Amino acid sequence: MATPRILALDQGTSSTKAVLFESDGAVVARASRPLASSYPRDGWAEQDAGAIWDSVQGAVADIVAQAGAEGIAGLAIANQRETLVAWDAETHRPIAPAILWQCRRTAEACAALIVAGHDARARDLTGLGINPLFPASKLGWLLRHVPTAKDLLARGRLRAGTVDSWLLWNLTGGAAFATDHSNASRTQLLDTARLEWSEELADLFGASLAALPEPRPSDSRFGETAPNATALPAGTPVLAMMGDSHAALYGHGVRAPGIVKATYGTGSSLMTLTPRRIASAHGLSGTIAWSTRAGGPAHALEGNITVSAQAAAFAAQLLGLPDAAALSDLAQTVEGSEGVTFVPALAGLGAPHWDDRARGTLAGLTLGSQPAHVARATLEAIALQIADVLAAMEQDLGQRLDSLRADGGASANDLLMQLQADLLDRPVIRGEVAEVGALGVATLAFASLGVEVAGGEGRTTTFTPRMDPARREALHRGWRAALDRVLHHAP
Ligand code: G3P
Repeated sequence: MATPRILALDQGTSSTKAVLFESDGAVVARASRPLASSYPRDGWAEQDAGAIWDSVQGAVADIVAQAGAEGIAGLAIANQRETLVAWDAETHRPIAPAILWQCRRTAEACAALIVAGHDARARDLTGLGINPLFPASKLGWLLRHVPTAKDLLARGRLRAGTVDSWLLWNLTGGAAFATDHSNASRTQLLDTARLEWSEELADLFGASLAALPEPRPSDSRFGETAPNATALPAGTPVLAMMGDSHAALYGHGVRAPGIVKATYGTGSSLMTLTPRRIASAHGLSGTIAWSTRAGGPAHALEGNITVSAQAAAFAAQLLGLPDAAALSDLAQTVEGSEGVTFVPALAGLGAPHWDDRARGTLAGLTLGSQPAHVARATLEAIALQIADVLAAMEQDLGQRLDSLRADGGASANDLLMQLQADLLDRPVIRGEVAEVGALGVATLAFASLGVEVAGGEGRTTTFTPRMDPARREALHRGWRAALDRVLHHAP
């Protein structure tokens, strides 16, 4: 019998990717469908939940058109986390736009909860400080502001969950309503010690547990595809689900503490395993990396940066360039940013600073400043944000992390990777497999079938630091000064 294949879906903020893997980690086929976000009000960010599902159906159809459906033993899902989708169990239709993880619409409600002294308790139960990033306050908002949500809840028809649960629902034609522990741990509604939803937190945020999916281990057999749900045959099982950042850590082959990875996506997430559930004292989150039926939960420390590679796309647009690649080309034309610093607080600032009111700032401009300096400052900002989180992580762990594993779309940029190594003053290791999140969740799905993926991350490229220490220190100083200007000042 031919070796089984796993079709991994990586449902991200700006696109949905589908990657078909062999059991040695080789890629048989890949497909990608773009996905749009909208920003209807200051600080709001939304997506069309129907379009998220359409993009998955499209990507799966593209794979089947390329490679056929034969030999696909199952599906694995890695997804953007913290985005809340709500739908009607009877019509299967979303009742409102998906509230994107970047959305700050609940900033005031969250600030009020913090002022009222609830932050420490929320941290104790979930590892997460109260913040509009997490779905808890988003569900509370939905129940307060969308009458249909309240009405459907009363009739037992409201379903609300992160993107994994929305995709699973659609894949199985509504037969399965579940989420995995890694996604659940990012909702701020999961008691991560008991691996159960917390009634206390639901009350605090005005959310409702009745609408939530069942949290399960990441390698559960979550359900089977319904007839005509996708181009795959009915009965194809969903064998693994994980948040995308968690899947990337798994894809790097990390199974024990001591290694940190950064995913360079729309935002960035740094994650490292911890021997137990720990609380951060330096602006990071405690989270569940993944859980398995046999091994239980693996815990991690995470720093989530709200705008990372997206800053490059944003700056490119501002400078009238076609895309982030053109921005990077422009950045290469100068040796340095000449004192220009860009703080990409375009949706507030996440870890480790956490300031929802922070606004993006361009500092240090002179008459000699050129677009190329702004371009370079943008790439430096992506790397400097990561450096801040890594420093916080080391403080929490009381241990130096010797190198950084890099993945995600923007990690393909050599200039960015070199700047990252220079600004961290330690090697940055990039894997050859671009879709490391997809590989990670596929690896877990293979494992659930008793198949070990031999190839793993494959060949790697190492970027070693070569920046003059004085220059590195000057860049860090300029960054800290610019940060000081944007942090914790009322608008
Ligand atoms: O926490 C949000 C993160 O999961 C989004 O990932 O890949 O869409 O930037 P990405």
